[in-house]
Amino acid sequence: MDYQTALGSLFTPEGRDDPYPAYDVIRAHAPFFQALDGRWFVTSHELVSRLLREPGLRAADAADYDGFWPGWRENRGVASIVLSMLQTNPPDHTRVRRAAAATFTARRVAGMRDVIAAQATELIESMPARADFMSAFAYPLPIGVICALLGIPDADRPWFRQRAADLTVVLEPISTEEEMRLADVAGRELEDYFTGLVAARRRAPREDLTSALAENGDLTGAELLANLVLLLVAGFETTTNLLGTGLRILLERPEQAARLRAGPELAPAFVEEILRYDSPVQLAARFAAAPLDVDGVRIKPGSELTLLLGAANRDPARYPDPHRFDPDRPGIQPVSFGGGAHYCLGAPLARLEAQVAFPLLLAMRPDLRLAGEPERRDRLVLRGYTTLPVATS
Ligand code: HEM
Repeated sequence: MDYQTALGSLFTPEGRDDPYPAYDVIRAHAPFFQALDGRWFVTSHELVSRLLREPGLRAADAADYDGFWPGWRENRGVASIVLSMLQTNPPDHTRVRRAAAATFTARRVAGMRDVIAAQATELIESMPARADFMSAFAYPLPIGVICALLGIPDADRPWFRQRAADLTVVLEPISTEEEMRLADVAGRELEDYFTGLVAARRRAPREDLTSALAENGDLTGAELLANLVLLLVAGFETTTNLLGTGLRILLERPEQAARLRAGPELAPAFVEEILRYDSPVQLAARFAAAPLDVDGVRIKPGSELTLLLGAANRDPARYPDPHRFDPDRPGIQPVSFGGGAHYCLGAPLARLEAQVAFPLLLAMRPDLRLAGEPERRDRLVLRGYTTLPVATS
């Protein structure tokens, strides 16, 4: 397969199903190169890591969207993500990120351990002998945890789950008209919900993240809403995919599952290797703000760069024998959470959820096994399953 064919395959259902052979071909072609449509693709671990931190590269922000899609504000799903910190650049990004980081602290995340364990235990206890792991566990856990953090009542969780799922599609480069319509509706409904929640917390603050963010005077009203929606959406399907992908990896490797069951303290290394081996987020996009020199190659202002996180994580120059799952490999530092200014704000929470969930699942359901062919969600950016059939005897 030549590299052009390999690159094209990533935009087909078959290529998305298993993009790793194509990544190998395009990485072997070059650590970065310009495709026929003018976009640059970056494949090596070293260069992806470096460019994530490159100040000359920016996220596409509201001003960029005004240029290439004047009507974007009318789709409230798109608008909530574009107005969030994910698609904002300095100086606004610096201010908003600082406010969010000051409330979403390591202490607050560490304080969630018992809540995560309690929710995970309840879900495992109520999982039937034959179940779809995605709907029984991988979807409800992250939504339950983020709702607890934001102070959203338990009864509203299913409602949030559907809205978050509908909105997530805006993170993909390709979507249907109907998907975009649902994202718009979800955006409107979430904005309304958070407007009410913020007003309630301003009247009577609680110990939750919504109260803390609402009290922070550094955010405008629109920024507050957009970033509350982002916290819900950014941490939802991503963490769901980490749980589903990770469980499949473990159940297909009983000897590794047995090691983790016997030594739950191995969980951090296992979770890092799961993140590396099959990243829940496969790419990050950036634009050159000004002419940029990358290893002697001139990149024109306005050029789009696609940083292939999934390809970087399987770069043999960084990880020998990269297609082998090996939690004992030294120095696992996947780029699955991005890097630089936009480094995932929720990484400690996602890691904690997975580190708590896998040992609990293996301990409480020692005979858990795969019970049918998992079905992948056909997406390029967010990689995971729609169904993962499991069984216990
Ligand atoms: C940003 C991945 C879970 C909140 C990012 C980015 C990646 C990522 C790759 C950077 C995107 C870019 O540079 O363009 C993941 C993965 C997760 C996960 C793989 C789970 C396994 C979470 C959770 C939350 C969260 C649980 C919060 C509850 C955010 C936020 C940003 C972000 C707020 C934007 C940061 C900024 O722009 O400064 N995430 N994420 N993520 N993530 Fe996550």
